[in-house]
Amino acid sequence: MATITEGFLDAPIFSVIGETAAEIGVRAFVIGGYVRDCFLYGKGSGDIDVVVEGSGIELAEAVARKLKVRKIAVYRNFGTAMFHRDGLEIEFVGARKESYDRTSRKPIVEDGTIEEDQLRRDFTINAMAFSLQKEDFGALVDPFGGIRDLAEGIIRTPLDPDVTYSDDPLRMLRAVRFACRLSTPDHPFNIVPESIESMKRNTGRLAILSKERIVEELSKILLTSRPSKGFFLLEETGLLKEILPDLVKLKGVETVDGKGHKENFSHTLQVVDNVAALEEAAIERGERAEKNVWLRWAALLHDIGKPASKRFAPGTGWTFHGHEVIGGRMVPEIFRKMKMPSNEKMKYVQKLVELHLRPIALVDGEVTDSAVRRLIFDAGDDLEDLMLLCNADITSKNPAKVERIKANFRLVSEKIVQVEAKDAIRNFKNPISGDYIMEVYGLSPCNTIGLIKERVKDAILDGEIPNEFEAADALMREVAAGYGLTPVK
Ligand code: CTP
Repeated sequence: MATITEGFLDAPIFSVIGETAAEIGVRAFVIGGYVRDCFLYGKGSGDIDVVVEGSGIELAEAVARKLKVRKIAVYRNFGTAMFHRDGLEIEFVGARKESYDRTSRKPIVEDGTIEEDQLRRDFTINAMAFSLQKEDFGALVDPFGGIRDLAEGIIRTPLDPDVTYSDDPLRMLRAVRFACRLSTPDHPFNIVPESIESMKRNTGRLAILSKERIVEELSKILLTSRPSKGFFLLEETGLLKEILPDLVKLKGVETVDGKGHKENFSHTLQVVDNVAALEEAAIERGERAEKNVWLRWAALLHDIGKPASKRFAPGTGWTFHGHEVIGGRMVPEIFRKMKMPSNEKMKYVQKLVELHLRPIALVDGEVTDSAVRRLIFDAGDDLEDLMLLCNADITSKNPAKVERIKANFRLVSEKIVQVEAKDAIRNFKNPISGDYIMEVYGLSPCNTIGLIKERVKDAILDGEIPNEFEAADALMREVAAGYGLTPVK
């Protein structure tokens, strides 16, 4: 045991917990993420896990009484209790000697010592503890070399990984998440090879996890600065095939007549990383408030329709025509299978997948006002996100090509600003309503009304007429006359 740097346990709560534990005759320790973050970042997070050689609930209640904390959440089933104090969330649990039922993630819990408890935790870097006992307050309790693994950037299980992962397969995804989240360019974290091999053997164990927990981990991986690292690991271990087989189908390059195509799996992951970088830069500049996990899902799925649309045309080479339409259609099914929401979040992802080529198509061609107006109309409030995704989608091995497309992309962005300043298209509302048409022509609801409205809308978006009532009314009358209608007033 080493005595550690002072300062990590300065908050008064820690000594109160230590004193109270002594009063009731148990030993208590701070464990897990708080300890890890102290060494990694120089301070712990606001989530504090306390492990007790005895009843976690009893100690939590005694500490809460002493501090006059009135609201305490007790989970008898799990033997845990939690309360908030001074902006900290403190959770208490009894030290466990666990074994797991093979059919669920629910541990069969028996009381244990601190070391037995540490042994059953996920990773050595998450199994370090600080003693709260008076005699060695603040001492690091690290029987499995967590501090060494933290310094070396190693993710390793305290037990044989087959046991740790089989006990709780969510830990395989947590390993990937920590490898992404803790890595920095100067200090990468990697999962040890025997753990990777174990993950390959245990992919089938994912079946006992709820889809919601899996999605939660994937979303956390997506929200890191370099999600590609996580998805390459998920692919390498075979976990991705179990979770999102459609994504794995993007892998590989087919060659016919010496012609290959883009490797769509690594391209997709490059786009996800680019989205992360662009988003983080925009947050830094104050242009965005926070990271948008759904934008990252859209990036992950943007080319998901490619395998189904792939064709080889002699002379032309490989094409993926309509992959954005196919991809858009696949999104609801993927969300359903993953038990993700089928609400406006799904529609947002679907819309971005469907539209992801549009701005680039503009870049390649002549950027007319009407094409820009259509884009603004179709993307609506999600235009900035769509443009960010498109920008992220410009990947090529040829730097000159990337530069040329990026320059054109900037032109389109400028044009959008100009058109927006001129026409109120973003939240377009047709100046001609169905009720108005019925009133003018004395009609009951019918098909023709929709056709007239559509024609007026198209004329405005195509810039034939301004987005104003008078011009729209005049066109409505002209179109209605064509249908043989005469105004009743
Ligand atoms: N833990 C575990 N197995 C799991 C989940 C958690 O062994 N499947 C243990 C680890 O010791 C972990 C602690 O419980 O450190 C707390 O879990 P959690 O709050 O999920 O993770 P943190 O390590 O605190 O990380 P984060 O910063 O993401 O909250």
